[in-house]
Amino acid sequence: MKIIVINGPNMNMLGIREPDIYGRKTYADLINMIEEEYKDKNLDIEFYQSNHEGCIVDKIQDMYGQRDAIVINPAAYTHTSIAILDALKSVALPAVEVHLTKVEDREDFRRISYPGKYCEKTFAGLGFQGYIEAIDYLIEKYGKDHE
Ligand code: DQA
Repeated sequence: MKIIVINGPNMNMLGIREPDIYGRKTYADLINMIEEEYKDKNLDIEFYQSNHEGCIVDKIQDMYGQRDAIVINPAAYTHTSIAILDALKSVALPAVEVHLTKVEDREDFRRISYPGKYCEKTFAGLGFQGYIEAIDYLIEKYGKDHE
């Protein structure tokens, strides 16, 4: 199975940005943790991070016919981006949303998720483990179709 893990703006600043909220581990730590978790499994994982909405839209479009499923943490674009929602709908791949923090318990402006309206599931508030839960969900549901 081929999965892409997409992270939005400021996720490259993990470890530095607001450590009280997001922790001290870095984006590289996140990738290493996911790669380590699946190293013995028949899974091809690509990683993509961008601070630019249009680049994320381009990347989602590029995944059409290339990847079997998408894990996405759109970061701040979660709460603003109809363009990312429409890109997910356009390629119509299975998608799961992840947030490190429990967004619904934070500021009111974080309560809405546009990409979440397309995603099958959201894992929020589990830290890095949310990505593992998201990937496991996709493997469980779609893995057998894409061995
Ligand atoms: C986030 C939550 C968003 O509200 C925020 O803008 C982020 C990270 C999370 O993973 O908890 O950048 O998506």
